[in-house]
Amino acid sequence: MDKNARHIAEENSSAIGTETVIRIRNLYKSFDDTPVLNGVDLDLKKGENLVVLGRSGTGKSVLIKCIVELITPDAGEIEVLGKDVRRLNSEQINALRRDVGFSFQLSALYDSMTVRENLEFPLKRNLKIFDQKILNEKVMNALEEVSMEHAVDQWPADLSGGQKKRIGIARTLILNPKIMLYDEPTAGLDPITSEEINELVLEVQKRHGTSSIIITHDLTCARAIANRVIFLYNGKNHFDGPFDELTQTQDPLLKTFLNYYNIEAR
Ligand SMILES: Nc1ncnc2c1ncn2[C@@H]1O[C@H](COP(=O)(O)OP(=O)(O)OP(=O)(O)O)[C@@H](O)[C@H]1O
Ligand SMILES: [Mg+2]
Repeated sequence: MDKNARHIAEENSSAIGTETVIRIRNLYKSFDDTPVLNGVDLDLKKGENLVVLGRSGTGKSVLIKCIVELITPDAGEIEVLGKDVRRLNSEQINALRRDVGFSFQLSALYDSMTVRENLEFPLKRNLKIFDQKILNEKVMNALEEVSMEHAVDQWPADLSGGQKKRIGIARTLILNPKIMLYDEPTAGLDPITSEEINELVLEVQKRHGTSSIIITHDLTCARAIANRVIFLYNGKNHFDGPFDELTQTQDPLLKTFLNYYNIEAR
């Protein structure tokens, strides 16, 4: 799949627009006086797959949570789809969260609900859809997108890690977001299942023309799906460019990082 995914990623780079869908400038966030984000900048173009890399604890998850106001930054600018996120009221934040799908680091399915109920939940809560026929149709369409129709009446506890990730992605997709934020979509999965999830991320981008930010520690994933990569270090952007440029770096810090993952810096 790697080659195939790479091919799709390259093909997709021609679909990247000039429109900026997320623009972040000088973002700061500290917890208990410890700075986590220390002046982060980020641009996401329409149709782009942007991968965020960085060691554990560098604030990758905090960064994307700021985008949908799950965390409020201390300072900086965040513009999403032309709106200043920091000035939105709660109703506008809810609307924003319909446009920006968030796939959490852990799949975050409700264990006490079946797959169907898990998928119906955002439709009822966010879109106020209660008509069972429409719910069924939307649920089955979303499951079809991730090839999990057969699991509609199963419980999350009976699904594998990869299947849970798929359902988590379906639950995000069901609201037809314009932007997808994936927090470690392949964490804890074996390499084959990881490749399948990478392929799914690419398919979603292709089918829906979504723009995505993908946080990952999986450099195979980054290579396969990134149109561009940013590397966070000490709460700042240390690198911003295409994956191939990253692997050609002479920067000692990046070389050390890549060597840990057995990616030879050339
Ligand atoms: N709600 C919070 N309250 C206090 N500290 C927090 C909170 N959220 C994150 N942090 C701290 O911010 C730092 C960055 O966390 P974050 O989860 O963004 O790291 P990460 O880069 O996503 O790491 P990983 O790769 O392990 O997921 C950590 O030190 C974490 O403990
Ligand atoms: Mg994280």
